[in-house]
Amino acid sequence: MKTFSFPKDFLFGTATAALQIEGGDKNNNWYEWCELGKITDGTHCIVANDHWNRVEEDIDLMKQLNSQTYRMGIEWSRIEPKPNKFNEEAMAHYRDEIEQLIKAGIHPLVTLHHFTNPLWLEKKGAWTNEESIEHFLNFTNYVVDQLGDIVSDWVTLNEPNVYLTAGYFLGLFPPGKKGSFKLYFKAAKNMVIAHLKAYKLIHKKRKERKLTGTKVGVAHHLRVFEPEKGTKLEKMSCNLASRLFQDIFLEGMTVGKLIRPVGSGFPEGKGYFVDFMGINYYSRDIVRGSFNPMTMFGERIVKEGAPTNDLDWEIYPEGIYTICKENYEKYKLPIYITENGTCDAKDDFRTKYIYDHLFYLHRAISDGIPVQRYYHWTLMDNFEWLEGFSARFGLIKCNFDTLERVIRRSGHFYSELCKEKAVTQSMYDAYFKDQ
Ligand code: FCB
Repeated sequence: MKTFSFPKDFLFGTATAALQIEGGDKNNNWYEWCELGKITDGTHCIVANDHWNRVEEDIDLMKQLNSQTYRMGIEWSRIEPKPNKFNEEAMAHYRDEIEQLIKAGIHPLVTLHHFTNPLWLEKKGAWTNEESIEHFLNFTNYVVDQLGDIVSDWVTLNEPNVYLTAGYFLGLFPPGKKGSFKLYFKAAKNMVIAHLKAYKLIHKKRKERKLTGTKVGVAHHLRVFEPEKGTKLEKMSCNLASRLFQDIFLEGMTVGKLIRPVGSGFPEGKGYFVDFMGINYYSRDIVRGSFNPMTMFGERIVKEGAPTNDLDWEIYPEGIYTICKENYEKYKLPIYITENGTCDAKDDFRTKYIYDHLFYLHRAISDGIPVQRYYHWTLMDNFEWLEGFSARFGLIKCNFDTLERVIRRSGHFYSELCKEKAVTQSMYDAYFKDQ
């Protein structure tokens, strides 16, 4: 099928994270990590896209992309640079940004934690310290007080699995610990509990103000794990990888159930603790032989002959369908694709990537799976954690010397797609006919 369309109420947009685009904040763990020279291309997050000073320009670009929604981060360390000391000016800045979005007809989805911690929390052991739960709730409480009247949709935590694997297992993110299953599970438990409590808190606070339509979720990084030869051992390994990397967070944060090795029981009671399944989908991993914890993140085995992006991540569009189906069957909740995109500096294959992934999402919807939103990762090239500016995921190209932004061909395609909520014949002919 060449053309396909989405329901009228489907929302398209883009996603970003505060640290990756804003610039100017020194109170967080990633600033320190950059200072230590840990970024592979030697770049630094201190300026990033200077979005902090270019909000209007960037919202204008979102308008040019015909965005209907925008997933953005609030940087904790800006709001709470010292424990319990809140920065009203920074808060006012975010409020103004969100008001501008709403005025532009762009519905905000706000992420409270996307990999970065205030330095004071990092020094206390970050999420490995049980106190992180109270700190996060305190921060959430303040933000919802300040923004709860204009923001109904929230992502509490972004990819706790990637954050913890990279930070405590592979040594790639701060605090750079390696091989610590112990810290990984300890922090995982604290993050699960923090989410459960934050879910209740956000709902309670908005309800007190008689506000309806509150939606709270988590952006889970979900991968397809596939056995190479299909042996029993490989299948067991896939199950283990999926349990340790995904299920402990999914079960914990969706239905409040702690599963081993994180824990047991229902610390906040039984029930649903998300209003939508947030799924960040990028790729699949092939599992060869026995379970190798390194395949959880980092050293990936790519299927032989499969297409890959600039970072050697396999491009596997069917996977978005598989993951939506599996998770819908399990949890029966509406799905938001909170991230999906690819690293393609030359913009050679991003247009096709979008087409293929949306084709599979459209198929999922046709099969009765309630996918309701799609956030492309990402609006513009930005500071990509490990690789700095050299990894380019943007619909918009950014020149990091001049900070000039230019919409790529794939961005123009996405813009038409957002407008039409469809791939029409003329779009297909314009973008794919000769390929
Ligand atoms: C996801 C992160 C996001 C970005 C993309 C490429 O894992 O949530 O910030 O780095 O990968």
